[in-house]
Amino acid sequence: MRQKIVAGNWKMNTTAEEGQKLASEIINMVKDEVNTNVQVVLSAPFTHLQSVSKLVGGSKNVGVAAQNVSEHESGAYTGEISVSMLKSVGVQWVIIGHSERREYFNETHEQLAKKVDAALKGDLTPIFCCGEPLEIREKDQHEAHVQQQLKDSLFHLSEEQIRKVVIAYEPVWAIGTGKTASSQQAQDMHKTIRQQIASKWGEGVANDIRILYGGSMKPDNAKELMDQPDVDGGLVGGASLKSRDFMGIIKSA
Ligand code: PGA
Repeated sequence: MRQKIVAGNWKMNTTAEEGQKLASEIINMVKDEVNTNVQVVLSAPFTHLQSVSKLVGGSKNVGVAAQNVSEHESGAYTGEISVSMLKSVGVQWVIIGHSERREYFNETHEQLAKKVDAALKGDLTPIFCCGEPLEIREKDQHEAHVQQQLKDSLFHLSEEQIRKVVIAYEPVWAIGTGKTASSQQAQDMHKTIRQQIASKWGEGVANDIRILYGGSMKPDNAKELMDQPDVDGGLVGGASLKSRDFMGIIKSA
């Protein structure tokens, strides 16, 4: 059985103080209320990572993620944050290729491939995002679109490397819109992704790799989505900013 992952993506929200409060609430609730084997990940803004890591401490089932990382190791890249910087404050995961980064910051497939390489080299677990915009879905080209995203940024990886990657399918039209993919739409795409992985790296890898769904996941739709055979958890934006809502989703896993 693949271990479920519920990752909260706080995006550019919360002050340091608010972030610490949110993290503490979640950590305490997970300790008190969750007895299943779910991996919880908190993707806080860069400025909060150190304090959130400290709060998480040695917790086995709560981890800390950054929302982005530089593809470069170090040097004259003003404003960028490297893998080793993240590691030095206790970060273990990193979101790579979120649609907001692709769209507003023009991150390219090539650059994302390099970010994945940098993360793996530094022993950070990449949560690699893919997903189609609405017009592609309406033209019924969503499967080809997502397959191309995976080909462009992940297909250079070895079997050993791809095993360390978590994939998040996030249809762009469902992010922050309140419009969720139906559980069938999610399952269909997750199955397609798993088949694509099987054809490239084999069934064994495909069976082990975790594929998360993201896009307006809420306490009231999380269970149906995560009950799908190929949906291994969620990448949660808006609902991860309220500890009770986020807990509701964690419990659904
Ligand atoms: P949302 O965001 O849950 O607010 O739709 C998901 C994401 O962007 O990761």
